[in-house]
Amino acid sequence: MNKQGVLVVGSSNIDLVVTAPRFPNPGETIFGKKFEMFPGGKGANQAVCAARLGCKTIFIGKMGNDEFREKLLQILINDGIDIRNIFVDENEHTGTAFITVDDNGQNQIIVISGSNMRLTPEDIDSKSHLLSDVAVVLTQLETPISTVIRSAELAKENGAVFILNPAPVTKLPESLFQLVDYLIPNENELELISGLKITDERSITYASERMLNKGIKNIIVTLGDMGAMLFNQEKVKRFPTKQVKVVDTTAAGDAFNGALAYRLSEGDSVEEAIEFANNIASIVVTRMGAQSSMPYLDEVKNLLPH
Ligand code: RIB
Repeated sequence: MNKQGVLVVGSSNIDLVVTAPRFPNPGETIFGKKFEMFPGGKGANQAVCAARLGCKTIFIGKMGNDEFREKLLQILINDGIDIRNIFVDENEHTGTAFITVDDNGQNQIIVISGSNMRLTPEDIDSKSHLLSDVAVVLTQLETPISTVIRSAELAKENGAVFILNPAPVTKLPESLFQLVDYLIPNENELELISGLKITDERSITYASERMLNKGIKNIIVTLGDMGAMLFNQEKVKRFPTKQVKVVDTTAAGDAFNGALAYRLSEGDSVEEAIEFANNIASIVVTRMGAQSSMPYLDEVKNLLPH
């Protein structure tokens, strides 16, 4: 059987979102405009993005036994994601994120991980049979690093492409780099992972080349409204993106990762996949919320490579 689809290992959170004209300064109280709850979490956002685009998507995560879990599961079910691979932790609450969005659509996020940080390498081992048929394994850093490493090892053992979106950023063990087919950081994440100051395109190139030399096969640096840059042993290429009216940048990176993983799983070239992912992210920033802003295939069919 041909390998197909994307397996996402990652977090799910309930996002508690306030909009405000601007971010408060330390020690300052300001009035906000609105409060809303949205389904979120980088892992679940990426899974929902891929699934809505028509990708066969598996999600492995861990939630608490509480009412937030019920809400989050319902969305995943509605999007056709098999929830039998989501563990329950009886002693931790479901992940929560406190998000402020300002009038420019920029955000600040504090995550309380809860059950997400209880997803163990043993949990992934217990689902290892799922890896034999998937084309792409997609991870982020809202679960323990040991779980990400185990996912990478199993992806490689099973001949799947392994993608790491290193968000929220933390220092990565060098042993992981050899296992990474695609590292997809933003500029801040690249700075911390490479240990090099990022100020401009030259420094992005220098830092990415350093990471390629450590064994990572491709680096795609996401640059917000400037698009993305691809680095591998053959090429360095810039991919500009559409300029749109930004409402909320939350989950734009997740949309990029979910869409890119989906297109790579379909056999697109990395260039085609980046162009498509840029387009999906540029839709997501025009809408409020994380999973609530992910488009469906019908809306974006015309953006697929011909
Ligand atoms: O990337 C956006 C996500 O980061 C939000 O949905 C929030 O839950 C945090 O995980």
